[in-house]
Amino acid sequence: MKHSLLCCFLEILTYTAMLPSKIRTVTRLFFLISLTGLVTYVGLAFYSFQTTFSSVMETGTSVYILNKTENFNSRPKSILLWTTSDHTENPIGEGQEPFIKQNCLFLNCFITSKKNSLKDYKNFDAVLFNLSLVKVWRKLNLPQDRSYNQKYVFHSMLPSNENPMCNNDLDNYFNWTWSYKLYSDIVTPFIEVLDLAGNIVAPNTDVEWSNMKSNDSFMIPVKKSKAVALYIKKCQPMLRRMAYSKELQYFLKEHHLEMDIFGCGGIKCPTAEDCRSIIENYHFYLVYEESMSEDYLTNEVMYAYDNFAVPIVISGVDYTKFLPPVSYIDAGAIHPDKLAAIIDYTIRNPSTYNGYHSWRSSYSIREVNHLRGLCDLCRLLNNGGRMVVHSTYETFRKWWFYGSLRERCYPKGAETFSELLSYINVTSKKKNSNIKGRYT
Ligand SMILES: *[C@@H]1O[C@H](CO)[C@@H](O)[C@H](O)[C@H]1NC(C)=O
Ligand SMILES: *[C@@H]1O[C@H](CO)[C@@H](O)[C@H](O)[C@H]1NC(C)=O
Ligand SMILES: *[C@@H]1O[C@H](CO)[C@@H](O)[C@H](O)[C@H]1NC(C)=O
Ligand SMILES: *[C@@H]1O[C@H](CO)[C@@H](O)[C@H](O)[C@H]1NC(C)=O
Ligand SMILES: *[C@@H]1O[C@H](CO)[C@@H](O)[C@H](O)[C@H]1NC(C)=O
Repeated sequence: MKHSLLCCFLEILTYTAMLPSKIRTVTRLFFLISLTGLVTYVGLAFYSFQTTFSSVMETGTSVYILNKTENFNSRPKSILLWTTSDHTENPIGEGQEPFIKQNCLFLNCFITSKKNSLKDYKNFDAVLFNLSLVKVWRKLNLPQDRSYNQKYVFHSMLPSNENPMCNNDLDNYFNWTWSYKLYSDIVTPFIEVLDLAGNIVAPNTDVEWSNMKSNDSFMIPVKKSKAVALYIKKCQPMLRRMAYSKELQYFLKEHHLEMDIFGCGGIKCPTAEDCRSIIENYHFYLVYEESMSEDYLTNEVMYAYDNFAVPIVISGVDYTKFLPPVSYIDAGAIHPDKLAAIIDYTIRNPSTYNGYHSWRSSYSIREVNHLRGLCDLCRLLNNGGRMVVHSTYETFRKWWFYGSLRERCYPKGAETFSELLSYINVTSKKKNSNIKGRYT
């Protein structure tokens, strides 16, 4: 066996020696190139193995083994969910699992809330901060040291008007944001509109709605006998909503139409699902958002759309960016007596009413799981261009809530007189100087 191998090798050598010198050079060159290729390959394989596992193996207390994925050869990206002793929860999960669960395009990411799992929190590619953790006034326990390319990411799905950010340490602190607001780096709305091809068309800051011809042949599959319904899930006193619906009720009566209130304080349904089937009987469904925050459009409208009721909407949202035209009535600027007249006219004219449903032959609307934002975060961390750009939200507090912070921020957490003073300094500093003069 050995002998025959040796003989063959020699045979090849003699054979090449016998070849004309030109061909011999080519053959040698070929071998040389192959050898270089092999060496490079082994080197690269070793390098990618090293980098792939280096951050995994370096971990102090835990080990994250990332499953093989298409982009496995690029370095895994690490995300730290910042927690404090007051806020220890990690609702997202640990490791690569959350990204697999969301069926992300990029899967070479892992998330953890264990700060020391990469020895130092400064070794993470991104640090994620939940609003509930940073909204406390003063007593902030936020990291101040950061490494050069690390991204600090703010995340919240809570309405900004109800959760203004007061602490001025938050200005010039975050590099990226993840929220329902359309001007976030990562936008996760509560609902989205798709065209028939399945492309997401809205919400978007600049939507082009296709020309929807009114389609008289569109038939609503349920017979409707009643005018307006409202379902109140949470028993929270929403004075403006109650006042508005009482007024609307009053003016509808003048047209011999009724508005029924279900849920808390109204007609009882055993479950929310039972209410759904009742709402099918109504032409309209009132969606009065709990908060008037910018871009804050919750999945409440789905209650209407799913039951073939036309939503009458009131919120702080520019609906042209969110919902197909003629799929809702924006009552934000309409007085209840005018609204009652519109409702009456629409119910008496079926072709007008059906027009409010013709969007259904061009679009579909569905709810969004906001954890999809994890996929976008992983994608951004893989985006070399975005990673090298250094950016920061200089006036983060204004970006989040552009009402008056002076009116909304109370020094609730202040423990000493100087802390109280610093509150006054902090909030007046941002304004024009004559306001500052009042306190100094
Ligand atoms: C990796 O894949 C294995 C087998 O498919 C699975 O059991 C395991 O849960 C996966 N790990 C992660 C972190 O998803
Ligand atoms: C953020 O905080 C809110 C309120 O405490 C909580 O419901 C939510 O699950 C948290 N989200 C993340 C990603 O930590
Ligand atoms: C109108 O809608 C119906 C039901 O969706 C559909 O079958 C029909 O093609 C539509 N007609 C036009 C002109 O779009
Ligand atoms: C993140 O923001 C901080 C604070 O403004 C800034 O110093 C840093 O350069 C930014 N880093 C990146 C990677 O964008
Ligand atoms: C508030 O401002 C005054 C005057 O500018 C200054 O003397 C004082 O030290 C400041 N207090 C705090 C707590 O920053």
